[in-house]
Amino acid sequence: MKLQWKTLALAAALTVPGLAAQADPIVIKFSHVVAADTPKGKAAEYFKKLAEERLKGRVKIEIYPNSQLFKDKEELEALQLGSVQMLAPSLAKFGPLGVKEFEVFDLPFLFDNYQELHKVTYGAIGQGMLQKLESKGITGLAFWDNGFKQMSANKPLHTVADYKGLKMRIQASKVLDAQMRALGSNPQVMAFSEVYQALQTGVVDGTENPMSNFYTQKMHEVQKHVTLTNHGYLGYAVIVNKKFWDGLPEDVRAALTQSMFNATQYANTIAQKENEEALAKVKASGKTVVYEPTVAERNEMKKALVKVHDQMDDRVGLELVKKIYKETG
Ligand code: LMR
Repeated sequence: MKLQWKTLALAAALTVPGLAAQADPIVIKFSHVVAADTPKGKAAEYFKKLAEERLKGRVKIEIYPNSQLFKDKEELEALQLGSVQMLAPSLAKFGPLGVKEFEVFDLPFLFDNYQELHKVTYGAIGQGMLQKLESKGITGLAFWDNGFKQMSANKPLHTVADYKGLKMRIQASKVLDAQMRALGSNPQVMAFSEVYQALQTGVVDGTENPMSNFYTQKMHEVQKHVTLTNHGYLGYAVIVNKKFWDGLPEDVRAALTQSMFNATQYANTIAQKENEEALAKVKASGKTVVYEPTVAERNEMKKALVKVHDQMDDRVGLELVKKIYKETG
């Protein structure tokens, strides 16, 4: 009898309009693979803060950093299945979704600096690329910066010949595969969460990443040499499950969109500095020798790698590459 009263009381409470507003918050699980203390990790936290403040208890954003929930490939599947709602995978990881064009960002020496990159990510080309995700059940919200990648190994990397025969860990991108082969290395695709151990045990000899990822994953403990090649870019697309996104109340979606806009400005303001600070910490650790290539060495590398642009026509489309050349001058 007592139980029945309780059930009735509960049912009544749920139908009172004032109480309905206190219903469970909409939960957004945001999974990513890097440390919290990185450009992506910090921007995710900033987005959470803004969105939760603005939506006053109607939305709860749960951030799972460091591959806690899912590794590289699984997280995309989880998003499509709806087990997580939001991700920010690196642009090198969209191939398995069937949107190979994203790998254009992996082309070596495509961008000289963040300004050139932003002409693409903030412009029509970038927006067109995000649109391509819709047919995959995914809505693209923004591009977040990380930065320019550096090469590392346990031996000095000065000339192209130094890369010959090295097993180099890469993200799952055909463009990165071609890039490492153009240097005479053997590329090995591997999830980000496995890189430290693979470097430590010698499963791979070296890798590439911006310094913020390198330092926060403690790769400097297991790599004796870094060369500041700045040969390619690594950044992210923030994406959501389209069905979930379209099903949100309109005012909630609007507040999340605004918060994403602000978080994107934040991400793209801090990224360069985060990488500079990480580089300083790697140097200060005394564990890794950091080498600045000479102009001649950089030119030699560039010459070896720009041919990858033509080779990748099948993968990313030369039309798109040409559009990017035009946009970036
Ligand atoms: C990597 O796998 O090296 C990066 O994509 C990790 C990341 O998300 O920055």
